[in-house]
Amino acid sequence: MQIIWSSKEMQDTAEQLRSGGKRIGVVPTMGFLHQGHLSLIGLARRESDVVVTTIFVNPAQFGEGEDFERYPRNFDRDRELAEGAGTDILFAPDAMEMYPEGHATFVNVEGVSTTLEGAFRPGHFMGVATIVLKLLNITKPHVAVFGQKDAQQVFVVQKMVTDLNLDVRIHVAPIVREEDGLALSSRNVYLQPDERPRATALYRSLRHAETQIHDGERSVVKLKKEMFDIIAQAGPVQVDYIAFLEPSRFRETASVEPPSLLITLAARYGTTRLIDNILIPVS
Ligand code: PAF
Repeated sequence: MQIIWSSKEMQDTAEQLRSGGKRIGVVPTMGFLHQGHLSLIGLARRESDVVVTTIFVNPAQFGEGEDFERYPRNFDRDRELAEGAGTDILFAPDAMEMYPEGHATFVNVEGVSTTLEGAFRPGHFMGVATIVLKLLNITKPHVAVFGQKDAQQVFVVQKMVTDLNLDVRIHVAPIVREEDGLALSSRNVYLQPDERPRATALYRSLRHAETQIHDGERSVVKLKKEMFDIIAQAGPVQVDYIAFLEPSRFRETASVEPPSLLITLAARYGTTRLIDNILIPVS
């Protein structure tokens, strides 16, 4: 596995690969890799000749008072995991490489960037869209793989790709979960021993809604209340939101309509903020 730190070297390498007819797949990450990331790398492996995994903890997507400083980092471990999962090139720039003195251009996907996660984390999606566009321009991939766990991020990235006519295919990979249902996240390491079991209520609540909808329940108000109760009954928690959305528009809906419904949620256990979601077919 080759490690590249410089944007120029990465761009030149990508250009050479493309002119040699190679198909490039990129997996953008912030490091501290887990099985979820490794599944994205595996997917990129199957869809391309050369897999580029990027590791960059992007300061622009963290707000004031968020966890940028304490975000977990372990480059040596990431290097081994990325290589083991099939990465050919690890692109790991530093902050000065990505945001040199005087950097002044940011990408804003309007509308969707200010709801839900965007409302709780102002500026977050501008940081995400900006870094993703930069990473796409630097790694020049044919396909870029993102995890469904960050459902709103996926929507923002897909919208940017469409609106800006980017010549890349976005592949969305399913959420990988612990055996007890907790969605894998680099932030799970923050959970205290007493918080970890409580956090499993998030997926239980999503599954509850799925079962109820499958059995014919159509009241969004009732389903939201039941989900909230499941989460709250597990112990202390701050639920930021539970949202029922039309997946194709990422707009909140007050009714359960075919063909599908996306339920997203965010909750805080102590200082740890977790998100999760489920896509439910509706007939
Ligand atoms: O999902 C993430 O890890 C990040 O938001 C991403 C896409 C790598 C951009 O920094």
